[in-house]
Amino acid sequence: MNGNGRGSGRGIADWYQHAGVRSRPRRTLDEEHEAGLRVFPAHLVPHLGHEAVTALGPAARDLLLAQHFYQYMQFTTHLETEVVNRGTVLIAHGRVDLDLTPNARLDAFKIYCDEGYHALFSLDLVQQVERALGIPALPYEFAPRLARLERTAATFLPEHGTLGRLLQVVVFETVVTRFLAQIPRDPTVFRAVRAAVDDHVKDELHHHAYFVRFFKELWASLSPALRRRVACAMPHLLTDCLRPDLAPVRAALQAAGLPTGAAAEVLADRYEEAALAATVREAGRHTLGLCETVGAFDHPEAREQLHLLGLA
Ligand SMILES: [Fe+2]
Ligand SMILES: [Fe+2]
Repeated sequence: MNGNGRGSGRGIADWYQHAGVRSRPRRTLDEEHEAGLRVFPAHLVPHLGHEAVTALGPAARDLLLAQHFYQYMQFTTHLETEVVNRGTVLIAHGRVDLDLTPNARLDAFKIYCDEGYHALFSLDLVQQVERALGIPALPYEFAPRLARLERTAATFLPEHGTLGRLLQVVVFETVVTRFLAQIPRDPTVFRAVRAAVDDHVKDELHHHAYFVRFFKELWASLSPALRRRVACAMPHLLTDCLRPDLAPVRAALQAAGLPTGAAAEVLADRYEEAALAATVREAGRHTLGLCETVGAFDHPEAREQLHLLGLA
């Protein structure tokens, strides 16, 4: 990386002073302070307002809210360690086909530390909330999502394992989930959760900038044939990254007392295809914009993939 980005002369600016892992306290639930608050914003859980769910009563609603929070935090824990750091360490060690500056490698290790810490505090909060609410988390499986990401990389870039892994990181690090940024300011949510999400969002601003630069340089280094394949892969990786997993939602609905058929109905009503594609388009708009910037979607084949996935 030639390091043309903001603050790149010093690498990720002031990381030693400002990174969450270096400067923020452990976020702990204080039951007295959290009284009257909820673990997660109710309006961000699509199935919560469904009439079949409302009919189950307030205890079921609390359970579903908690499970949604657990799923999100466990997803984060796995994602950071199994996808983001798996690719980031390749950059840190210089095991990529790019002329990396010394700072670019150090920055990759800073990101590696950040993500490890995000994984730690996400699991820490899951365990604290389980104890505070007395609601155990249902088992969480990251394997299906990882399998989707691997399948996409293998389909479009079969002989380029490293490139596939780097692109998975670029996608996860450049998507912007607007709802996440709202949580720190949501007065209905546990203070510890708001603070932890705020810590995370602040670190991710630096990661976002780093991976925008990284992708541009990576793209510039690719042959025209490989660019075309990367351009086709990106919309699929984006979908793999952002499409919500419905299996854990189904499991939570059943744990809350809904029979299989009713749970399937809630899923069909609240997670329609059009809504899922809109979620990917919305949260993926920066990544799609980044691909546009380098001309990735000038390739007709890549445009076709965008249409296919409802992202055009
Ligand atoms: Fe992170
Ligand atoms: Fe990150």
